[in-house]
Amino acid sequence: MQVVRTRAQLRAVLASAPRPIGLVPTMGWLHEGHVSLVERARADSATVVMSIFVNPRQFGEASDFAQYPRNEARDLERARAAGVDVVFAPPVDEVYPPGFDTAVAVGAIARPLEGAARPGHFDGVATVVAILFALVGAERAYFGLKDYQQIAVIRRMALDLALPTEVVACPTVREADGLAMSSRNARLSPDGRRRAAVLHRALEAGIACVRADRCGGDAVRAAVRAALASEPDAVVEYVSVADPDTLAELARIEGRALLSLAVRIEGVRLIDNELVVAALPREREAASPSGPRPEGRSN
Ligand code: PAF
Repeated sequence: MQVVRTRAQLRAVLASAPRPIGLVPTMGWLHEGHVSLVERARADSATVVMSIFVNPRQFGEASDFAQYPRNEARDLERARAAGVDVVFAPPVDEVYPPGFDTAVAVGAIARPLEGAARPGHFDGVATVVAILFALVGAERAYFGLKDYQQIAVIRRMALDLALPTEVVACPTVREADGLAMSSRNARLSPDGRRRAAVLHRALEAGIACVRADRCGGDAVRAAVRAALASEPDAVVEYVSVADPDTLAELARIEGRALLSLAVRIEGVRLIDNELVVAALPREREAASPSGPRPEGRSN
């Protein structure tokens, strides 16, 4: 495995690298979720490139950036074991050289949810990912679905800027108690870590609500919030039931919906989501022993 620090070194190494190239962008503190992205990239690619860069432009709070966990020696060991060929681990001024003065701002899909809660966050993500896509020129890049909206933003950006890298969405990897793997989990105390399992329990409560045919958006949001309330120290930032394509909030789930939430535990901001599919009204009617329901009747 080669470790390169500059744009020039990266370009030189990749000039003769066997294709296709798979890119796994990360901010380090590698966990099993990252390993699953590398495994997927490995299966598709002749060369696997991982970037390790804690991107200051996507953090609103300076303290959040400062506290982001870092351990390069441990990350390089994990990347090597996972089968990465090239690690790009640049200093900040190699990604944003003096005079750097460009930002990529994605529109509507970047505005709700994380975009509303973290102003400027997705501009930072889109800008750094555009730079990585341009530098690596990979056929494919791999991202985890825990950051569902991030994938939607990056797809929009790649499409609009005609970047040829295909964005591959990979399943969220979870701990045994359902907690989505995230580098931020490392900042939780053992007790906070145990309590953080409430995020996934709450999403499951929302899914159970849909499965019980209670498909009103507010009913599902209330079920998720009620489950979160079982951990009094969990500070809820948002609970959303949205259209998975537009991320617009849904009054009623008919077909697919994205349940998502952002919650602080011990001040650590955690996010998670699940896709859920409700039966379409026509399918419900067909399955109902009493035939079609009267107009306007609730479930
Ligand atoms: O998901 C992340 O780790 C980051 O947002 C990314 C995509 C590496 C950009 O800095």
